[in-house]
Amino acid sequence: MDTNLSIDERVEDLLSRMTDEEKVGQMLQVSYNMLSPEDYEKYQNLGIGSFLHVLGEDTEKIRQKAANTRLSIPPLFGIDAIHGHCLLNGATVFPSQLAMSSSFNRELIYEMGKATALEVAADGLDWTFSPVLCLARDLRWGRVNETFGEDSYLAGELGKAIIEGYEYDNNIIACAKHYLAYGEATGGRDAYDSEVTERKIREVFLPPFKKAADSGCGSVMTAYGSIDSQPITASKRLLREILKEEIGFDGFIVTDWENVRSLMTNQHVTDNLTDASKLAVEAGNDMSMNTHEFYECMLSLIRDSKIDINFINDAVRRILRVKFKLGLFDNKQRPDRSVIACKEHKELNHKLARESLVLLKNNGTLPLKGDIKKIAVIGPNADDVRAQYGDWTFFSHPVPKENVTPKTDYYTVLRGMNEIFGKDNIVYNKGCDIFGEENYIDKAVSIAKDSDAIVCVIGDCLAQNGEYRDRANLELSGYQKELIEKLVNTKKPVIAVLVNCKPLCISYLKDKCSAIIEMFNGGDFGGLAVAELIKGMFNPSGKLSISFPQHSAQTPCYYNQYTGWHGGQYVDLNKGNVYTFGDGLSYSEFKYSNLRLSKTTASADDIIKISVDVTNNGDMDGKETVMLFVNDVVSSILTPTKELKGFEKVFIKAGDTKTVTIKLPIKELSIVTPDLKYVVESGEFEIMVGRNTHEYLSKILTVK
Ligand code: NOJ
Repeated sequence: MDTNLSIDERVEDLLSRMTDEEKVGQMLQVSYNMLSPEDYEKYQNLGIGSFLHVLGEDTEKIRQKAANTRLSIPPLFGIDAIHGHCLLNGATVFPSQLAMSSSFNRELIYEMGKATALEVAADGLDWTFSPVLCLARDLRWGRVNETFGEDSYLAGELGKAIIEGYEYDNNIIACAKHYLAYGEATGGRDAYDSEVTERKIREVFLPPFKKAADSGCGSVMTAYGSIDSQPITASKRLLREILKEEIGFDGFIVTDWENVRSLMTNQHVTDNLTDASKLAVEAGNDMSMNTHEFYECMLSLIRDSKIDINFINDAVRRILRVKFKLGLFDNKQRPDRSVIACKEHKELNHKLARESLVLLKNNGTLPLKGDIKKIAVIGPNADDVRAQYGDWTFFSHPVPKENVTPKTDYYTVLRGMNEIFGKDNIVYNKGCDIFGEENYIDKAVSIAKDSDAIVCVIGDCLAQNGEYRDRANLELSGYQKELIEKLVNTKKPVIAVLVNCKPLCISYLKDKCSAIIEMFNGGDFGGLAVAELIKGMFNPSGKLSISFPQHSAQTPCYYNQYTGWHGGQYVDLNKGNVYTFGDGLSYSEFKYSNLRLSKTTASADDIIKISVDVTNNGDMDGKETVMLFVNDVVSSILTPTKELKGFEKVFIKAGDTKTVTIKLPIKELSIVTPDLKYVVESGEFEIMVGRNTHEYLSKILTVK
């Protein structure tokens, strides 16, 4: 084939030479653990489009078989490299998406994407099923850890950063998932119906996917669930009309795991797989993840003229375009395997782990002072790498494994404390398990009594984290509450460290502990970063991307809800969250002054500049995330009283002042009307710039 042709020309040339079998083959993705060995072999020899969960050398064998097919179309290897290429034991394990979102650091997340792509590509793979652009607004949902938190704007910005990192230099392609409103499933139940309207979709859930599409994301994954009772897999409106035609997404759409079969077995909208395959493809899905019968079903539909061949051609065109773009037809040169967990990636991971920590409370105990000699490290998560890594590593996927240990260097909090404070100054006891009947609280308390400070590491475990793992109860499980109460009763300063996959109910910690550090799932360096923070070796800068409720039944508690007009309060709870989106302390005090707008009256096409002076009044250099919130004062539909519309993270030396400027395209202020139009309504907008949702300066902007 003439390699001087453009990608589109090469795609058309190849497409014109393909048989129906070859075309439909491109539209199938299979996984070895869903097929008999014979069938798996059969699909390899057929040269089908894509394989998932294959690692390393195994890709080479499959590639060879594809090379021996008539047109030698290379397969595309997909993997869940969600926070690093973690299904490969030995690769870098970065903080989870939820953890890293606390960094509010676009550049670091872009670099993390780049590093992950290098490791994935070096391992012979082409495609990561990341990022998750679902919003975690219902905390019961098991997959909160996979998201960038509760806010649509933040998810879009960080999603764009990570996608650009993944796709840098065409190392691999990204996959924005799960399209759409998956996190909003009723009752926080995984893969359920989301009762949202198209207006709400356009206002809240679609924008991060639009940003992903605009930044050239190679693929999008269809969510399992349904919206307003229609399976998303079968939604022509969402997939073909909105994503492909209106937004102009030019990558391909892959279903989630067995979505085609689910149309028949779980959602019961058809009684056979042929109709299910037809529904899925007509709606706009280009590739079926599993449901291997899809191959025969599509061929029978073509044979019987029951499907428009243009749908097939469009799907294959999209898949081939990505393959050409990645250089798979041109003897792609892959990075050397030595990039996997290389020194640079470790350094990056360490930086990201530091910036992902959120200091939620500090009564002055931190950083620990010189008179603290002996420290008791207590708690079920102090030395549990499984809990610290969280979901989507080789521990849990593609199949759960019990007897494995990480091949890379990793730091639990215990190891971090030992290294930073010296082993001789640390005593350790687990205290209790996350679940279970047994506890060792008395022993833990007795060693805690003999120490000067207590670091208590609690949270949740893998069995409470991920798909199928929704929780109705967000309290600390097992004996953890009792453990912390008894430690508090020793009257020693207690520093609570949370290693968890989602916000839990932590009012007691807020009331009684001296300090609280939120790690979420911090990856290889989470434990080291915690110890360094406790010692004051860096200035914490993370802020929450997600709010914490007082009670399990106080969900949803995301910050940008309507105020309500009957007080919005439960009779048996105080008002407000325990912690809210944007909260997070520093060892410095940042003072905001001199808020100004480049224009105080603007029109819909303007982009205005909003500036503020930020002074680091502390003794330590530090980073601060400046947040811009907007309130559409009077609007024809309800709007929240605060919506994030911009943020910038800046480094400010102790004693210095920096002017931070955030651009605001007035278009960002548009509402979605009941008849689905995007309109910037004239009137007043309150512009709020500050540390978080409750400490800010404000000015009025008038839009004409
Ligand atoms: C199902 C999950 O929902 C999705 O996020 C993942 O990428 C696929 N399985 C493949 O493992």
